[in-house]
Amino acid sequence: MNTEPLYGGKQSRRITTSDLVAAKSRGEKWPMITSYDALSASVFDEAGIPVLLVGDSAAMVVYGYDSTIPVTVDDLIPLVAAVERGSSRAMVLADLPFGSYQSSPAQALETSVRFMQEGKAHAVKIEGGRHMVEHVSLLTQSGVPVMGHIGLTPQSVHQMGGYKVQGRGEAGDQLIADAHALVDAGVFALVLEVVPHELATRLTNEIPVPVIGIGAGPGTDAQVIVWQDLLGLTGGKQAKFVKHYASLREIMLDGSKAWANDVASGSYPDLDHSYE
Ligand code: KIV
Repeated sequence: MNTEPLYGGKQSRRITTSDLVAAKSRGEKWPMITSYDALSASVFDEAGIPVLLVGDSAAMVVYGYDSTIPVTVDDLIPLVAAVERGSSRAMVLADLPFGSYQSSPAQALETSVRFMQEGKAHAVKIEGGRHMVEHVSLLTQSGVPVMGHIGLTPQSVHQMGGYKVQGRGEAGDQLIADAHALVDAGVFALVLEVVPHELATRLTNEIPVPVIGIGAGPGTDAQVIVWQDLLGLTGGKQAKFVKHYASLREIMLDGSKAWANDVASGSYPDLDHSYE
């Protein structure tokens, strides 16, 4: 069995689902981050982040929509392929977008096969609880590793009436039941989004697979974040759980304005940046 730590470990081969489950048994915490292009993938891979998620959040941060709903399989496959090419160690996880898996387990399998064959994804993620059990079973029986996603599931934003904290009060027991059903169906890990931190800790302690929190407090096995939120590229109001670790928006604004000013004044390019 591999005993290298998931984050900060020396091994250079691709991370597998067994590595993630083994990290849970060692009580190790680890980071997962979104990526949508080869260059950011190469940075996060070099940083040692073991899982890169090509999230349907690409709908907003890449394509400029105001929710994840409009993004399609054809929009996402080229991004998955780019992230796979840009990384060599991280597991590359493809998010199945809205409408590409809900109709039937067969539809979920067909879409996953496209992501794995055309995008070279190593695993897929799907949103939903107990009603996804048959989908997860068919996928895992067919050799597709599946990560579940419960709590705030952004593809159901219109049904949930907005981006709200999930699992408060009695709804917490429903979430726990969803998690157990998905684990029994074969998920190798579970994303838990925007739920009370005590519920997230209880769930993490109850199930054998890694729980990856986003807005779920400090008690989960791992954390996931959209990289543009983490590194301060996204403008506007941020969710409570977002903490900026860099200010890329300011850096890019300053750099692009300085260059534009130099072009306008004629001081760029000078002869040092020209050919003889
Ligand atoms: O699409 C996404 O970015 C996600 C999150 C869990 C970060 O699903």
